Amino acid sequence: MDTKQKLYEKALEIREKAYAPYSQYKVGAALLSEEGRYYVGCNVENISYPCGTCAEAGAIASMIAGGDKTIEALLVVSFGKNLVYPCGACLQRIAEFSNPRTIIYVADKQGIQETHYLKDLLPYAFKEEGLSNEK
Ligand code: THU
Repeated sequence: MDTKQKLYEKALEIREKAYAPYSQYKVGAALLSEEGRYYVGCNVENISYPCGTCAEAGAIASMIAGGDKTIEALLVVSFGKNLVYPCGACLQRIAEFSNPRTIIYVADKQGIQETHYLKDLLPYAFKEEGLSNEK
């Protein structure tokens, strides 16, 4: 099975475990680290809505806990009417651990529908250099 397909299978499987009683919108994310390991996450909602977390955030937390630092590719899947793209906050979360090649796959029930570079989805990510006060 190739990387893309593996990411899809893993994201589908973890999507089933999502805790989404308020939106009924289950999301699964799977990523491959530059170090060659797979990590997964699902959305975890909360009765206090802003406390909920996205699937991508879960996968990233798992990657950091696993000791890896860089995302080579991340796939996100939902079964909604429209494709699910990582939200703005998650694009920034992904950017923190990206490299210039980081790929985002967007998938639904039928399979992988789109492939994007992170840098195309978030071309002006706030990066470490942005913290500098010097011109
Ligand atoms: N959600 C994700 O987990 N990832 C996304 O990329 C978009 C939205 C979740 C958050 C919330 O639990 C539900 O989808 C509806 O917004």
